[in-house]
Amino acid sequence: MPSDALAYVREHNVRFLDELKSLLRIPSVSTLPEHAGDCRKAAEFLAAELRRIGMENVRLIETGGHPLVYADWLHAEGKPTMLAYGHYDVQPPDPLDEWLSPPFEPTERNGNIYARGAVDDKGQVYMHVKAFEALLATTGKLPVNVRVIIEGEEEVGGEGIANFVASNPPELKADFALVSDTEMFAPDLPTLCVGLRGMIYTELEVRGAKTDLHSGVYGGAAPNPFFALALILSQLKDENGHILIPGFYDGIIPPSAEELKAWESLPFDEENYRIHEVGASELVGEPGYSVLERTWARPTLEVHGMPGGFIGAGAKTVIPARAVAKVSMRLVPGMTPQRSYDLYQKYVKHLIPAGVEVETRLIHSGEACLIPVDNPYIQAATHALYEVWGKETVFIRSGGSIPIVGDFDRHLGLPCVMMGFGLPDDNLHAPNEKFNLKNFFLGIEALVRFFEEAGKIEPASKG
Ligand code: BES
Ligand code: MN
Ligand code: MN
Repeated sequence: MPSDALAYVREHNVRFLDELKSLLRIPSVSTLPEHAGDCRKAAEFLAAELRRIGMENVRLIETGGHPLVYADWLHAEGKPTMLAYGHYDVQPPDPLDEWLSPPFEPTERNGNIYARGAVDDKGQVYMHVKAFEALLATTGKLPVNVRVIIEGEEEVGGEGIANFVASNPPELKADFALVSDTEMFAPDLPTLCVGLRGMIYTELEVRGAKTDLHSGVYGGAAPNPFFALALILSQLKDENGHILIPGFYDGIIPPSAEELKAWESLPFDEENYRIHEVGASELVGEPGYSVLERTWARPTLEVHGMPGGFIGAGAKTVIPARAVAKVSMRLVPGMTPQRSYDLYQKYVKHLIPAGVEVETRLIHSGEACLIPVDNPYIQAATHALYEVWGKETVFIRSGGSIPIVGDFDRHLGLPCVMMGFGLPDDNLHAPNEKFNLKNFFLGIEALVRFFEEAGKIEPASKG
């Protein structure tokens, strides 16, 4: 029984949280070049901690971008080997004036810790580290062999780790993967995530005149790139949320009748979701599909921002020479990023109005994934969650993307356990991101129990 390790977790709760706060103070925003040094600092912080608790072969692995953190402990002979994944990079914190406490000054409030990265994903990465620490400190060993791989580019598509994984290095040889970067369906409802959407993130750049122009002097004769963009964007998706790119939906694999039935029995209240999670006067999207189907199992297309022109206070009368729209599409099983991008690019070419040029760029992409639940590692996980929360686990999908999870399956053939401890109101990517402290502490206990359970499994390949 892992009781000593569990007691250790309870005894050291306060220190664990203090350490997490130090990690959260590092503004490791992967998309902003001025924070590259902070990304490295976060990587070094985790490497130092992994070393301190007794993990071995701890090192940073350089990529073209932010470094990977690697560590292992491989002395559980005859036991399965786990690849524990997470990411130390975070999303930009803006809009800053909407945070009740500053994004990189972690603050405790009503049972939560508030900071950018609290739940996505530093808090959850740190839970892995603390579960390893509790076991190593109390038993001198781990119940399974462990390899840790933590990336710093998840929020920007994960190119570095994708290249590393594709090269199938010995460092990633394992029997299963553990990812804690997802959410529980509801508070106190043990949850495993078994499907993620894929995505392509693109930019459309429209160029009109050779330079910005006086809109009074030239308006009526010069093309306006923003208006051209608006025309293009308005033809990508109709008012029912249906994507108009020809062929885009071809080949989609819908959820099974069994899965759909299971979703229907999840505790989901659409009106509560509309008011408290979304906060809009009405929900939108494809008629004939439930909210869970629309967000988990249907592709979508979104516009994230349209840089260009005049955005200062007041008024400036200008026809901008160029305008950009950041457009992404979420993909579901049966779709591939390459095919989806080709169809999109081809369609956009037909939509270009007179007087402008359009350049389409692919910023990053990732495949959707769907994980079969009939494997012993998933069972071990549900067992561990039951011991902590006393309830049967629900299997859900998520509309979000974690590009590398599909690659673990495709390149490494690893079954993946997505055991995440976020909550639906954690404000991921938004102001006032938080992590529920009860989930942080109980989640560490669940991880300890999961490692113990996984240690009872006979690995398919020994070593
Ligand atoms: N952890 C999230 C994905 C997620 C969120 C999964 C909620 C399940 C529930 C991840 O960090 C993320 O935000 N991914 C990006 C990926 C993209 C930038 C390639 C996303 O989904 O937008
Ligand atoms: Mn994440
Ligand atoms: Mn994220």
